Amino acid sequence: MAKVVVGARLPGRIDEILAGHTIVRPRDGEAELTRDELVRALRDADALLALLKWRIDDALLDGAPKLRVVANYAVGYDNVDLAAARRRGIVVTNTPGVLTAATADLTMALMLAAARRLPEGGAMLRQGRWHGWEPEQLPAMDLDGAQLGIVGLGRIGRAVAERARGFGVRLVYTAERAAPAEVAEALGARTMGLDELVATSDIVSLHCPLTPATRHLMNEARLASMKARAVLVNTARGPIVDEEALVRVLARGHLLGVGLDVFEDEPRVHPGLVACQRAVLMPHLGSATVGARRAMAELAAQSIADVLAGRRPAHVVGDTG
Ligand code: GLV
Ligand code: GLV
Repeated sequence: MAKVVVGARLPGRIDEILAGHTIVRPRDGEAELTRDELVRALRDADALLALLKWRIDDALLDGAPKLRVVANYAVGYDNVDLAAARRRGIVVTNTPGVLTAATADLTMALMLAAARRLPEGGAMLRQGRWHGWEPEQLPAMDLDGAQLGIVGLGRIGRAVAERARGFGVRLVYTAERAAPAEVAEALGARTMGLDELVATSDIVSLHCPLTPATRHLMNEARLASMKARAVLVNTARGPIVDEEALVRVLARGHLLGVGLDVFEDEPRVHPGLVACQRAVLMPHLGSATVGARRAMAELAAQSIADVLAGRRPAHVVGDTG
């Protein structure tokens, strides 16, 4: 019987999937383990179901000598030091696929909200600044015919492309590996270099993982090179955008709007973004649907059950396993 640390209160059939193992989970009434509880529980744990806001690094793993698997409750795994895990022979897994539709849906919501200026219109109404229909009130973007630039054509980028096609956008993409011709063709998407994509798109939507190469990919020069009335959407990871630079660019009146679900230093949100009415801001809710969160929990639990049974889990990241 192994000891499995489940870091948060989670939906789904976790107990069934991990039957036969001892599960350590948050105390009644608590949503997640405190740092102290986590550190204490890891001392003799075999497995960890981890949250994306926890840094899984040497400092933490040094205190977990028996650990064999870290199942990250997320598709992104930039919070896990893969080299530190590999040195200890710890398998790391993630939860791709099951949250693709939910994340793509939220991307569309942010895209539409920013392009159609929902926060500005809503504020105008609530603050009593609406005095009736006017021909030139809050002119917004025409999605039909607009160029949507997708940065990273993985599962989520593709799902966004499929949804956006229904709005009549022209699709261009840039990706580390060129998408298979048939995928790009089926989407009607044309590949383009990043700088050209950023400078010519009406909407830029980020769907790449956070890596050393993509940190501040959207730096001040690229943000400033965007079209004056373009929209930037980020449902990937906050540090892909230089947030300080974004605040400066927005303050100059550049960009029609931004839609952000992720931030550089969560849960802190830059006051310049909070103050900006052209910014649609959400608290990292990309995968926060009932079905996606349940499926993520069951997939992560299954990964743990697989490792503990000596099987290779479906979604191993890095070189271990
Ligand atoms: C959420 O941000 C995830 O990576 O699943
Ligand atoms: C994640 O699911 C991705 O590949 O975009």
